[in-house]
Amino acid sequence: MRGRLRPFLAAIFVVWNLAHAQEPMEYRPADSSLSGPLISAQTGMETAWDIPKSPLTGSLPRDQHLARQILLGYRIFKNTPQEARRFTGNKLSCNNCHLNAGQREKAMPLVGVAGVFPEYNKRAGRLFSLEDRIVGCFLRSEHALGAKGQRSAKPVFTGDESIVPTTSHEVLALAAYISWISSGHQLGSAISWRGQNTIPPEKIIPLSKLKPKLGEGIYKEKCVTCHALDGQGVAIGDKKPGPLWGPNSWNDGAGAARVYTLAGMILYMMPYLDPGGLTEEEAQQLAAYINSKPRPLFPFKHKDYAREEIPPDAVYYKKRGPGE
Ligand code: HEC
Ligand code: HEC
Repeated sequence: MRGRLRPFLAAIFVVWNLAHAQEPMEYRPADSSLSGPLISAQTGMETAWDIPKSPLTGSLPRDQHLARQILLGYRIFKNTPQEARRFTGNKLSCNNCHLNAGQREKAMPLVGVAGVFPEYNKRAGRLFSLEDRIVGCFLRSEHALGAKGQRSAKPVFTGDESIVPTTSHEVLALAAYISWISSGHQLGSAISWRGQNTIPPEKIIPLSKLKPKLGEGIYKEKCVTCHALDGQGVAIGDKKPGPLWGPNSWNDGAGAARVYTLAGMILYMMPYLDPGGLTEEEAQQLAAYINSKPRPLFPFKHKDYAREEIPPDAVYYKKRGPGE
C-alpha cells in the first residue's frame, strides 16, 4: 500500500512546487485594501479603522520596557489630546493627519521613516533626528504652547526642543512606535511611499490666482458633511476629524499652514469616501480657503528659516526685507 502511495505523493509534491515557483517574487499583499505594507490610497472610509501593523495584535519586542513604550506611543498617536496633554494645545491627534496610525499610502505615512533620520531640515537649518521631527509636529501641528501649563510659563525659545524636549517620555514613546513600524524597511531616504503628498510642479497655481471664495464653494459641496460649516468636524462613530481652523486647529507655523503642503494632503486623502476624486486645482483652492482662516499663533515664526528662504506658500509668515 505504502509503496503505491509514494509515487503519488511525490507527484503532488512536484506539482505543488511548480505552481509556487511560478509565483512572482515581489511582495504582493493578499488583501486588496493594502498597497505593500500600507492601506491603499484607493480605499475610502471602510478601511479607516484598519491598522496593518498594530501593537495591539502584532508581536512586540521581548524587552518589556521597549514593548510598553511602543504601546504608549501608539495610544498617543491615536488620541493625542488625552494621552499627551501637556504638549497638546488643540484638538488634533497625530492620526487625524497621518491616517491609519501612520500606515496609509499618500497620507504622509511613517512606515520606514525612522530610517531616514538624521536629515537636514530647512526650517531649522540643521540636522533633525526622528525625535526632533516629532517635536516639530507637537509644537506646530499640536500647538503645544496652547496646552495647559505651557500657557502661563514664559518660554525661553532657543529652538522647538526648548519647549518640547526630545527626551520627554511622550516624544520617546512616539519614536518607539514609529521605529517599530519602520523595522524591516530600508534605511535611507529612498522609501518609495515617502514624500508623495505633493502637488506636481506643473500643476502649481500661483497664490495670487487662488481665491478663498472659490475654495469655500468647493468646501460647502464636498467637505461640510464631515467637517461642518464651522470647520470643527462631525463625529462619525468613534472617529472625528480635527478642527480645520480656529483655536483648536494647527497653528500658523505648522506644515499644514502652508497652502501647497495642505493641498498635497487634501488631494490624496480627502474627501474620505472618495479619495483621489479632487482635481489639483480644487485641492489648492480648498487649501487656500482653509488657510485664510484664523488659527493659533506660533509666536516664534521669526526664528524659522534663518538660513533658508521663507517658502512662498507659508502664508502666515511675514516676508523678510533684504538683509533682515
Ligand atoms: C495638522 C496635521 C498634522 C498633525 C496633527 C501631525 N502631523 Fe506630522 N506631519 C504633517 C505634515 C504636513 C508633515 C509633512 C512635513 C511638512 O511639509 O511639514 C508631517 C510630517 C511628520 C513626520 C516626518 C515624516 C517624513 O516623512 O519626514 C513625522 C515623523 C511626523 N509628522 C510625526 C507626527 C506625530 C508623531 C504627530 C503627533 C504628535 C504628528 N505628526 C501630527 C502634518 C501633521
Ligand atoms: C466622509 C467624511 C469626510 C469627508 C466628506 C471629508 N473628510 Fe476630511 N477627514 C475625515 C476624517 C474622519 C478625518 C480624520 C481621519 C482620522 O482621524 O482617521 C479627516 C481629516 C481631514 C484633514 C486632516 C486634518 C484634520 O483637521 O483632521 C483634512 C485637512 C481634511 N480632512 C480635509 C478635508 C477636505 C478639504 C474635504 C473636502 C474635499 C474633506 N476633508 C472631506 C472625514 C471626511
